[in-house]
Amino acid sequence: MKVGVFDSGVGGLTVLKAIRNRFPNIDLVYLGDTARVPYGNRSPETVIRYSLECAGFLMERGIEVLVIACNTASSYAIEELKKKLPVPVVGVVEPGVREAVRVSRGRVGVIGTRATVRSGSYQRLLKEAGLEVIARACPLFVPLVEEGVVEGEIAEKVVRMYLEDFLRIGVDTLILGCTHYPLLKGVISRVLKGVHIVDSSEAVARDLDGVVLDEGEGTTEVYFTDRSQDLERIVELITGERIQPVLVGGGSQPDPPF
Ligand code: DGL
Repeated sequence: MKVGVFDSGVGGLTVLKAIRNRFPNIDLVYLGDTARVPYGNRSPETVIRYSLECAGFLMERGIEVLVIACNTASSYAIEELKKKLPVPVVGVVEPGVREAVRVSRGRVGVIGTRATVRSGSYQRLLKEAGLEVIARACPLFVPLVEEGVVEGEIAEKVVRMYLEDFLRIGVDTLILGCTHYPLLKGVISRVLKGVHIVDSSEAVARDLDGVVLDEGEGTTEVYFTDRSQDLERIVELITGERIQPVLVGGGSQPDPPF
């Protein structure tokens, strides 16, 4: 079975890895839209257009299920993708919310891109479940991760700047509402000691039970729309595998050719 996964950049590889751990035999195709990352500062219309284009590229490769491994795209484009695509579409917001509802005692922090926080997607679902929500955008986290700066003094300073006061506010659970953020999980859990961290990548993989059959050759194809950094190193850092990424479209340009 062939499963397609897309994100604005490398962050969605955290979801790819969780899916691979759960389904060792399926064939995975990943697209990271590195030519247009970040999605998190863009308008809903642009996020929807980019998402449809990424999904179209993966559909051409014969995927049978689509996973939106980006919270920004899940927040704005999931309905449109479900409407337009002839295959099941799974996003990252609902699985993360379900996990937070399971573990929280009442007050949940959500961090994500500006667009995800502005969309209110997490806040609405968590409030419906009777939880108190404090949502905050952390726009510097994505560039840190895209540059592979996920440990050390700089990463810790930035994490403290955004999150330290969550301890004072008293959240018991924090949802990493951006697929780039699990790479900063080590630093985040040190800064927020005792807070339950929800990484939706594992929750998404669990949600695929019943949608995905673990059959295939176990291949992984990884595509990017631009080579803006040392992608081989970052792919290996995140997935733990040596995968040779393929560049679509031949480099930096405003619109990849799909
Ligand atoms: N990985 C994307 C997400 O989960 C965020 C990165 C971006 O801003 O493009 O929202």
